[in-house]
Amino acid sequence: MLRITTLFAGLLLATFAQAERIDNFVLLDQHGDAHNLYYHKDKSAIVVMIQGNGCPIVRNALSDYKALRDQYAGQGVHFLMLNSNLQDQRSTILAEAEKYGIDMPILHDESQLVGESLSLIRTAEVLVIDPKTWDIAYRGPINDRQVYERQKAQASNHFAADAIANVLAGEAVDVANRDTMGCLINFAQRNVDHAQISYADTIAPLLQEKCVVCHTEGGIGPWAMSSYEMVRGFAPMMREVIRTKRMPPWHADPHIGAWKNDKSLSIEQAQTLVHWIEAGAPRGLGEDPLKNLTITQSEWPLGEPDLIIDLPTYDIPASGVVEYKFPRLANTLDQGVWVKAATVIPGNREVVHHILAGSIDATTAQAKRDSGVFDNYLIGYAPGNESNVFPQDTGVYIAPGGEFTFQLHYTPIGREVTDSSRIGLYFHDKQPGNFYRQSVVMDPTIEIPPNEARHAEVAYYAFDKPALLHDLVPHSHYRGVASKFVLQGPDGSRETVLSVPNYDFNWQRTYTFVEPKRIEPGSKLIHTTWYDNSAANPGNPDPERTVPWGLQSWDEMLYGAFSYTFVDETSEAPILDKALADTTQMVGFMDKDMDGKLSWQELPGSLKRRLVQGFKMVDTNADGGLDINELYSMSKRSREARSSDSDSGAGGG
Ligand code: HEC
Repeated sequence: MLRITTLFAGLLLATFAQAERIDNFVLLDQHGDAHNLYYHKDKSAIVVMIQGNGCPIVRNALSDYKALRDQYAGQGVHFLMLNSNLQDQRSTILAEAEKYGIDMPILHDESQLVGESLSLIRTAEVLVIDPKTWDIAYRGPINDRQVYERQKAQASNHFAADAIANVLAGEAVDVANRDTMGCLINFAQRNVDHAQISYADTIAPLLQEKCVVCHTEGGIGPWAMSSYEMVRGFAPMMREVIRTKRMPPWHADPHIGAWKNDKSLSIEQAQTLVHWIEAGAPRGLGEDPLKNLTITQSEWPLGEPDLIIDLPTYDIPASGVVEYKFPRLANTLDQGVWVKAATVIPGNREVVHHILAGSIDATTAQAKRDSGVFDNYLIGYAPGNESNVFPQDTGVYIAPGGEFTFQLHYTPIGREVTDSSRIGLYFHDKQPGNFYRQSVVMDPTIEIPPNEARHAEVAYYAFDKPALLHDLVPHSHYRGVASKFVLQGPDGSRETVLSVPNYDFNWQRTYTFVEPKRIEPGSKLIHTTWYDNSAANPGNPDPERTVPWGLQSWDEMLYGAFSYTFVDETSEAPILDKALADTTQMVGFMDKDMDGKLSWQELPGSLKRRLVQGFKMVDTNADGGLDINELYSMSKRSREARSSDSDSGAGGG
C-alpha cells in the first residue's frame, strides 16, 4: 500500500516536472503594486526567481540575479521574483528587500495558488518563460556557483543566462529542468484531497454569496450560475478570472482599509474555489442549491421613495461600444430637500453596467456644469450596490432649480434592447444634524505623454478643519491602471487609506469605510492615479497621443471623489465656504511640490499674467508663495470689486 502511494506521488511529480505552460495571474508585490504576467506578452523573455525570506541560498544568489538582469538590459527581458512562502507577509518581504537591496518586484503569492500550480518545491529556482508560447523554457538554478553551505567565487555554468539566450534565439534549451538547491517551501494544502470539497455545502453557497447577484438570469454577468452543470462548464474560466483578480469585480488592495461594502473573495474563499476546480469540479452529494434559484428584487428595497426620477429611454445595440450617456434633467422641485438615501432600479439589468447620479446647483457656472462633475453626488450604482444610505443624521441638501445629472454605462449583450432606468430619492422629514459633504481631488490640467507605461498624476485637497472621511471613489478612463489615496497628517506622517492597484474602468466603485477616518486640520488628502499610455495596455485607444483632461473615455481624468462631514459643523450653522473650497481644490493641483503654497514657477500662465505686478501684494506673509488663504483673499477682493462695479453700473443706468 505504502509503495503504491509513493509510486503514485512519484508519477505525479514526474508529470508536473515536464515543460508546462504558465497560466496567467495577477499578484501584488512588496509595495502593493499589481503585476499581470500576460501583460508582458511582447517581452522577449520573462525570468522569475523564487524568493523566500531568510533563505541563505536566495540571498547569496541575489548578486548573480541582478548581474543577469544587467546582462540582458536593453534586450526586452523582464525580471521578477515570486514569494509563495507560507510564513512571509508583505511587510516582512519589504523589510527583506530593503535589507538585501532587492530592487525588483517580489510578487507575493499569498494564497499559494500560483506556487502550487507551478509545482514549486524550493526557493532560489529560476524560471525562464517564453512569452510567445507561455512555455517554461527552463527551470532550475541560476548557475552552479552555490551548493548547500558552500559557494564558489565564480560559476562555471550559467544555466539561466544560457536558457535566456536560447529563448531569444528561438532555440530549445538543452536541459530544460535541473534540480535547484534552495529552501523547501511549505505548501500547506498540497497534500489535501480537494475532491472532498462539497459542491452543495461549500461551493454553491459561496457562489451565491459572491457571484450570483450578477451571474443570474437577467443579470449583467454574461452567464447565469443556474446549475452545477453551468458552473462546471465555466469552471476553468472561473479559475482564470479568480487568479487574475478580474472577478468578483472589487479592486481594492485587501491589506489596506476595511470596507463596508466589500465584495471581494477572502484568500480562503479563493483557495477553496480554485482547489475545487483543480480537483475536477466534482459534483458530490446533496441537492443543487443553484437550481431554481430565484432572485426576488422587491421594487424599492428602502420603501416607496419621496421622488422618483425617470431617466431617458435608450436603445442599446446588439454589439459594439456604447459611449457613456450623460443625461441632465431639470430639478423641478419647488423647495430645497435633504436627501438621506438613494436607490437605482436599472430598467434592464443585463445591459446597465453602472449609473452615477447626482445634481448640479443652479448657481454653478456653465463651464463646470459641462465638465461632468457633480456638485452633489448621490449614488454610484453597480449590481450589488443598489442603494446608498448616508451616515446617520446627515444629508445632502439639494436647492431648488439646477439639474439632476447622471452618467450611464451600458454593455451590449448580443441583441438589441431598450433601457429605462429609474432613481428613487429619500428625503429627511426634518433638517438632519449635519451635512454629508462631497468633494473631489482633481486636476483638469493633466497631460499624459505618449507611449508612457506608468505615468503618475497627483493632486491633493487640504483640510483646515477636523473632519470625518466616509468614502472614496477613484475614477479615471481607459488608461487609468492604478489609484491611491494617502492621508498626510499635520506632522507630515502618511497613511495610505485606499489603494486600487489594478483599477478597471469598467467598475466604478465607491469604497465606504467601516470606521470613518478622522482628519485633523492641516492634513492633506493626496490622490494619485497611474496611467498606462503604452501600446501594451489593451484598453488604450491611441498610445501616440498626448492625453488631456476630458469627459470622454478616450481623454483622461485625475478625479478622486470623497465624502466627509465636518466634526464641528451642524446643518444649522454651515462652516463650508464654497469659494474657499474651490480655491483649495485649485491649489491642490497647482502645488506640484506639495509645500502648501504656489511659487511663481507653479502658477499657470493665466495667473502669471494676472499677477505680473501683484504677486508680492497677494503674498501677504512674504514667504515667496501664495497659499490657499492668500489666493482666497485675492479672489474675494476681485469678486467684491466686480460686484461693486456692476452695482455702480446699474445705478448709473
Ligand atoms: C458585480 C457583478 C459581478 C459579480 C459580483 C461577479 N461577476 Fe463575473 N462577470 C460580470 C460581468 C459584467 C462579466 C463580463 C466581463 C466583464 O465585464 O468583466 C463577468 C465575467 C465573468 C467571467 C468570464 C466570462 C468571460 O469569458 O468574460 C467569469 C468566469 C466570471 N465572471 C465569474 C465570476 C465569479 C466566479 C464571480 C464570483 C466569485 C463573479 N464572476 C462575480 C459581473 C460580475
